[in-house]
Amino acid sequence: MSPRPSPAASATPPLLADLLQQHFDPASSEPNNQQLYRLLRDAILQEALPPGLRLPSSRQLAAELGLARNTVIHVYERLGAEGYVSAGVGQGTFVLDTRPDKLASRDAPGPARPAPATPEAAISRRGAELVEQAGAGEKQWGAFMPGVPEVRTFPSRTWMRLHNRQWRKPQPDLLTYAVGPGLPALRSALADYLHSSRGVRCTPEQIIVTNGSHSALQLIALLLGDAGDTAWVENPGYWGVHSVWRSAGLATLPVPVDNEGLQVDEGARLGVPKLIYASPSHQYPLGAVMSLARRRRLLAYARRHDSWIVEDDYDSEFRYGHPPLPSLQGLDDHGRVIYLATFSKVIYPGLRLGYMVVPEALVECFQTGLSELFRGGQYLTQAVLADFIAEGHFVSHIRRMRHLYAARREALLSAIRQHFGDSLAIHDGAAGLHLVLGLPEGSDDRAVAAAALARGILTRPLSAYYRGDAAHLPGLLLGYAHVDEDDIARHFATLAGAIGL
Ligand SMILES: Cc1ncc(COP(=O)(O)O)c(C=O)c1O
Repeated sequence: MSPRPSPAASATPPLLADLLQQHFDPASSEPNNQQLYRLLRDAILQEALPPGLRLPSSRQLAAELGLARNTVIHVYERLGAEGYVSAGVGQGTFVLDTRPDKLASRDAPGPARPAPATPEAAISRRGAELVEQAGAGEKQWGAFMPGVPEVRTFPSRTWMRLHNRQWRKPQPDLLTYAVGPGLPALRSALADYLHSSRGVRCTPEQIIVTNGSHSALQLIALLLGDAGDTAWVENPGYWGVHSVWRSAGLATLPVPVDNEGLQVDEGARLGVPKLIYASPSHQYPLGAVMSLARRRRLLAYARRHDSWIVEDDYDSEFRYGHPPLPSLQGLDDHGRVIYLATFSKVIYPGLRLGYMVVPEALVECFQTGLSELFRGGQYLTQAVLADFIAEGHFVSHIRRMRHLYAARREALLSAIRQHFGDSLAIHDGAAGLHLVLGLPEGSDDRAVAAAALARGILTRPLSAYYRGDAAHLPGLLLGYAHVDEDDIARHFATLAGAIGL
């Protein structure tokens, strides 16, 4: 790479003189320094100015182009800093040799290949499958988008006050990289909350704070499963678990659900899994609550076959009528359950915080895995959240939202009855943020959802939550939690027009 002085050391080389004469335009709207830099850089990259060529002095080039000398000096300095020319003071400025074939001598030269013209030609098989089976919605707000909480009534003043209090005494530990699996104060507050409201049995040390359920699912897959290991997932079920686990190399096996939740015996026919995903408190999306008998059967199966159960308790705070059943984790005496929860439904989804409770035997490996793979953070937000929980705002917010959502659910049920009487099945388990409106057998729910979207109503077709060739129930997922009670009848009337029975 050492520069070779060219014979024509002081004159402007003819190549460069031609180039500048043809392309440098002092009247252009592009600033002179940018224009000169671009012309020289492109000419070097295209080898129109060959390696070793000596550029004229800044004084000479400035005079020839009618520019201030400083302009040329700055351009030479920039080209020098970016590695295009040598930049020794007083030694002349030479084009450096950065040709790739010269630098990579062990890389046999060959014809350059064009960049792939389509994504299909570029992405991995894993990537292609992920993109083809993607489940996330493009819109996340509007009647009746499922899974969305009411975010407009979040106690933002309280949140802001707690936030300000943390910022008033800036603590380096809260602003730097996280060390460990979450802020101790948050983990303590959560252990108390989980014990009293969800019957979860854990110490604060067993709680691992994540950036939401997807990070938790990914960590679980990467730490407990090897490529090709199998995992049961509910069918129909949450698309996220499918996407995350398959892209982590697990083979997901869809296991049917009934009105008692995951059908363990059907799963057993498919083979012993490393991981089992279940949402026992409120099966997603059909809403079944897993019976006690099924819970005990699942725990016994996992224990006997050395499988891990991942209990997704994503929205059990919202139950209308009878109180929620305690968690599956609370029944587990043998450390087979990883309990998963999220703040997305109880605070707001954009917060991107969730957590899991791991059995004691896994604590150390999950703590290390989390910081090794995801480099956690957001400790300041976690400190705010810890205060929010410890000072009682969390529980009162949930209580207020439960009342609000209960009224909105009633409004939706009455709109459904008004349009369709009892002719359509409703699956909701009297809990959560959505219900499923069944459509008559043979209906094309994707076509109905598309027709609704054309009228401005967001729904998700139930068939999109099924995998494999099991018989699909047609239906629509309708989220009501974020829709004003007074607007529900009007929006449902529009939807009913799209259903058109
Ligand atoms: C079944 C289920 N689990 C978990 C989540 C929450 O995921 P996250 O914590 O990534 O927001 C959702 C969100 O819609 C869900 O439907």
